[in-house]
Amino acid sequence: MSAQLTLHETGLEVVLPDSQPCYFNYFWLRDNCASSFDPETRERVFDIFAEQKPPVPAHAAITGQQLDIVWKDSNHASSYDLAWLARHVRAEPRPDPATLPRKHWHADHYRKMKRFSQLALRSDAATRKAWVHALLTEGVAMVTDMPDTEAALEETASLLGVPRPTFFGLYFDVKLHINPDNLAYTAKALELHTDVPSEDLAPGVQFLHCLANTVEGGESLFVDGAAVATELKRTYPDDFALLCETSVPFYDEHDRYDMRARQRIIELDVQGDISGVTISQHMADIFDMDQRFLDRFYPAYCRFGRLLQDDRFLMKFRLNAGECIVFDNHRIVHGRAAFVAESGKRHLRGTYTDRGELRSAWRILSGEGRFAA
Ligand SMILES: [Fe+2]
Repeated sequence: MSAQLTLHETGLEVVLPDSQPCYFNYFWLRDNCASSFDPETRERVFDIFAEQKPPVPAHAAITGQQLDIVWKDSNHASSYDLAWLARHVRAEPRPDPATLPRKHWHADHYRKMKRFSQLALRSDAATRKAWVHALLTEGVAMVTDMPDTEAALEETASLLGVPRPTFFGLYFDVKLHINPDNLAYTAKALELHTDVPSEDLAPGVQFLHCLANTVEGGESLFVDGAAVATELKRTYPDDFALLCETSVPFYDEHDRYDMRARQRIIELDVQGDISGVTISQHMADIFDMDQRFLDRFYPAYCRFGRLLQDDRFLMKFRLNAGECIVFDNHRIVHGRAAFVAESGKRHLRGTYTDRGELRSAWRILSGEGRFAA
């Protein structure tokens, strides 16, 4: 079937195989000529800002399955496969292999949670791929057989991205501190929360390496925030809408820092699906919304907070020395039961990597991308 071509002032119409006439803008065509991309760096090296006049063809024709254009003024020649044009005809984001359906989980998830030995993760790409898959779909996975060293955490986190600091540094040690500036550094219960909502971009993927845990109590508490938000949407849709829409202030303030940021309690992705939650009573600032609005907001906020603690959703277990739990800090809500300080030693070491890097790891391990061979 021969394709047809009509040139207009600002773009052209081409009849693609099995399609209606499709319009493509000249700027877009010129900007995305194959020669615009450096084969080594794969970055765009063509500078469309430097074009003195809007690009228009001096000549354009269809040859076989290809559109050929010679541009006026520059005499630059561009060729486009019709199949490539067909992939870009709709104004929609390109398909992303890292957009995997989320698999919600409930209180009984502990025995089903995916587990991977650290050595296998370091040595085997297929194991790493299964790990990334579990983190993208379930939001949590356990790494076992961690070496009993402080360096093991960095080694593990580096498999998923570059460890990233927060305002309190690159790594943190959850153990008893003499002058604690955070509840985590005490033996008290640590209510369900997501980490560091007082930063503009709260950390993405969290790693907690257990180096010692011989105390009485101190069980780990984990909840799939996306599962709970889904239940809230089903049972109290108005509450759900309020928590999606309202910008809530968070803070973390001590002698040397005064961090403040606003977050939404329930987060939706671009498809409108629930992608996560932000919750932290110990870092929620004094709510500054209209007092009449708070008549509606507080009941919704409390209903969601109570639902997070519901036995149907709460996964409770003991994190053992040699384990490192890894989870999406924007989806998985976590906490800790109180423990008896004198009963033994409890030491977790933590860090974070970026959520975007997790998706990048999946694309690379899947061999999917614009430049993939
Ligand atoms: Fe935490």
